[in-house]
Amino acid sequence: MTTLALNNVRPYGEDVTNILIDVADGVIDAVGENPFDDADEVMDCGGNVLLPGLVDMHVHLREPGREDTETIATGSDAAAKGGFTAVFTMANTSPVIDQPFLAEAVWAKGQEYGKCDVYPVGSISQGLKGEQLTEIGLMSRSGVRMFSDDGKCVNDPQLMRRAIEYAKAHDVVLAQHAEDHRMTEGSVAHEGEQAARLGLRGWPRVAEESIVARDAIMTRDYGGRYHLCHASTEGTVELLRFAKNQGIDVTAEVTPHPLMLTDEKLATYDGLSRVNPPLREARDAEALKQALLDGTVDVVATDHAPHGSEDKCVEFENAKPGMLGLETSLAVVHRIFVEPGLADWRFVAKVMSERPAEILRLKDQGRPINVGEPANLVLVDPESPWTAHGDEMASKASNTPYEGIEFSARVVGTWLRGTQTYDSKKA
Ligand code: DOR
Ligand code: ZN
Repeated sequence: MTTLALNNVRPYGEDVTNILIDVADGVIDAVGENPFDDADEVMDCGGNVLLPGLVDMHVHLREPGREDTETIATGSDAAAKGGFTAVFTMANTSPVIDQPFLAEAVWAKGQEYGKCDVYPVGSISQGLKGEQLTEIGLMSRSGVRMFSDDGKCVNDPQLMRRAIEYAKAHDVVLAQHAEDHRMTEGSVAHEGEQAARLGLRGWPRVAEESIVARDAIMTRDYGGRYHLCHASTEGTVELLRFAKNQGIDVTAEVTPHPLMLTDEKLATYDGLSRVNPPLREARDAEALKQALLDGTVDVVATDHAPHGSEDKCVEFENAKPGMLGLETSLAVVHRIFVEPGLADWRFVAKVMSERPAEILRLKDQGRPINVGEPANLVLVDPESPWTAHGDEMASKASNTPYEGIEFSARVVGTWLRGTQTYDSKKA
C-alpha cells in the first residue's frame, strides 16, 4: 500500500489534525491526532485549511470546436488549480453535445487526462436551436446527469414543458439559462442608469425573472429537478424564495462575479466586463449574497467562459460575453464571505462542494473528510496574498475580470482520488 500523509491540516478550518491517504485506492485511510510520519510520502501542510474537492456545476471547456480558447485538458488544469475535482461542462460547443457519443467522448477525454472528473452536460434542444428535444433518455443512459441549453434560454414554453416531463421521467437535472430572448435583442449591459449613461443597450431584470417565474410554476405542476443557472437579480431571489416556500423543487446557482462586481465596471467599456447575464447593481449583489447565506441560492458555480483576445479586446458591443472563473472562484468566495466573517469554511464546503454534489447525485464528491471516504481534497492557505493576472492562468484564455486584483486565499494543492492534480510549489 502506498500512503500519503497530509500532516497538520485544519479540515473545514477547524482543529488541526493529520490525514493518511491510501493512494492506490484513492481513499482516506486514517485521521488522527498524531502525524503520520511513516507514510511513503509525508507533507507538512502548515495548518492550512482542508476542504472536500470543489464541484463546479457550470463551466465551458470549449471542446469540441473552440480548442483555440480552451480544451478539456487546459480546462482540467484550470479546474485543478482552482481546487476543483469535478466540473460539468456545458453543451454549447461545436458540435453541440446533443447525442450520446459526443457526451461519452467528453467524459472519456477528461478521464484520460486525469486531472478532474469532467461531466458532460447534454443539450435540451437539438443543435441548441430551441425547436426539437434531444434524446434525453438515451443520453441519460450514457451517464449524462444534467441537461441545459445554457448560452441560450429554452424560451418556448411548450418545449420547456416537454423537457421538464422527459427530465422527470429520466430523473435528470434540467438547468435553465433564464433569458427571454425577445427582451434582450441587442442587449449588452444591465438595463439601468449606467447603461443609459454609457449608451449601451440594456438587458432588463424582467427578462430573467419572467422565465424564472414561469419555470417555477411549470416545475410545481410537472415536477422534476429544475436548476437555475447564474441567478443575477434581486427579483430572481424573491421568486426563488417564493418557490422554495411553496415546496417547489428548484435549486439555483450564483456565479462569483455578480457577488463582487457591478455594472460600475463598465465605465471603461472593457470587453472583459461583458457577461451574460450582465453585471447588475449593488442591490442585486447584496440580495444574491444574502440568498446564498440563507440557502435560497444553493451553490456557487463559476460559468467559466474562456474567450480569445480577438473576441474580448474589441468594442464593448462586439465583445463575446463570458468570464474566466475556475482559478479565482474560491478566492472570491473567501473575500466576500469568509474574510468579513459572514460565513466560515463549512459554508464554503457546502456551497462549492457538498450541495453541487448532492444536486447532481455524485456519490464520490462533496463527501465528509473521514476515514473510508474518497480522497478528493483541496488544501487552501487563507493568508497567502496573490494577484490575479490573465496571462498567468492555467486556462488557455486570459479573460479574467479580476485583472490586477489582490486576493488572500490561495489553493496550495488538489487531490483527485488520492493523486495530486495541482501543487502550487510546482506550478
Ligand atoms: O457570459 C456567458 N458566456 N454566458 C453564457 O450564458 C454563455 C457563456 C459562454 O458560452 O461564453
Ligand atoms: Zn454558461
